[in-house]
Amino acid sequence: MRNIVRVGIAVLAAAVSAVVVAVPGGATVPTAETAMAAPAHSRKGPAVVDYAHRGASGSAPENTIAAARFAVTQGATFVETDVRRTADGELVVMHDDKLSRTTNVEEVFPDRAPYWVHDFTLAEIRQLDAGSWFAPEFTGERVPTLREFVDALKRRSGLLLEIKGSLLYPGIEADIVAELKSIPGYLPWALATGKLVIQSFWVPAVRDIHTLLPDVPVGLLFETRPTDDVLVEASRWADQINPGNAFTDQALVDRVHELGMSINPYVVNNGRDMRRFVNLGVDGIITDYPAVMRDIVRITR
Ligand code: G3P
Ligand code: CA
Repeated sequence: MRNIVRVGIAVLAAAVSAVVVAVPGGATVPTAETAMAAPAHSRKGPAVVDYAHRGASGSAPENTIAAARFAVTQGATFVETDVRRTADGELVVMHDDKLSRTTNVEEVFPDRAPYWVHDFTLAEIRQLDAGSWFAPEFTGERVPTLREFVDALKRRSGLLLEIKGSLLYPGIEADIVAELKSIPGYLPWALATGKLVIQSFWVPAVRDIHTLLPDVPVGLLFETRPTDDVLVEASRWADQINPGNAFTDQALVDRVHELGMSINPYVVNNGRDMRRFVNLGVDGIITDYPAVMRDIVRITR
């Protein structure tokens, strides 16, 4: 199911209206000025899809229900999130392999360092505050399960699901598939609407998903520039190439398209950079600020 996200026609907004995204916690905020700094262009081409990175993580604590809800409210086409497995085999949404950066685990469990996710049960993780590190108004946010996160999207925004730590959690790919299958009606809906993509930096994990769910689009993440051989091999079965933005250039965009895949750089938060990537012809942009992205590109669904 290639290029599922390359739909419709988008026109780059000729002028960008003032956007101020509420960003507690002192995170860098792309302002209307940065969005306006790039010259206005007109461009016709495939729609550029917005992917809200870890939810609307510029506006709410990453990978929480609050971040998912912000993304849905802001109209994000897709929401990206990260999945890991607890000591008792539950799937939770968490970027890091340890709980310390985004929760108060050190306060609640002072003797349990180094705080690996896989050393804690879901019941223990449920006791943690995953919001106050970001801003006081998010105190009490919990680490969600994958199922809760999917439910929070209300089948309005799609899901770009990243598998983390496959070597830490053997068999997590099959667990994810089983969990998605257990949500009534979810997979048929996702397949019919094209609103589920599964990705990883770890190629064997993505291959496993492709084997288990051959109709679900899959993506490969790259933190360094992929060789042409890697791209050619990926093109035999993968749908998306999702590279770091620092090495995403015209040659890479064109080569990925020649090979019949789509390309969605991460993480692009500045309006000027969003415009630059749109003009390179990317298919989507993974951003902490889906509201800014929507103001940069008029999205046709
Ligand atoms: O989806 C792209 C991005 O999420 C990959 O990097 O570290 O934020 O998971 P990371
Ligand atoms: Ca991720």
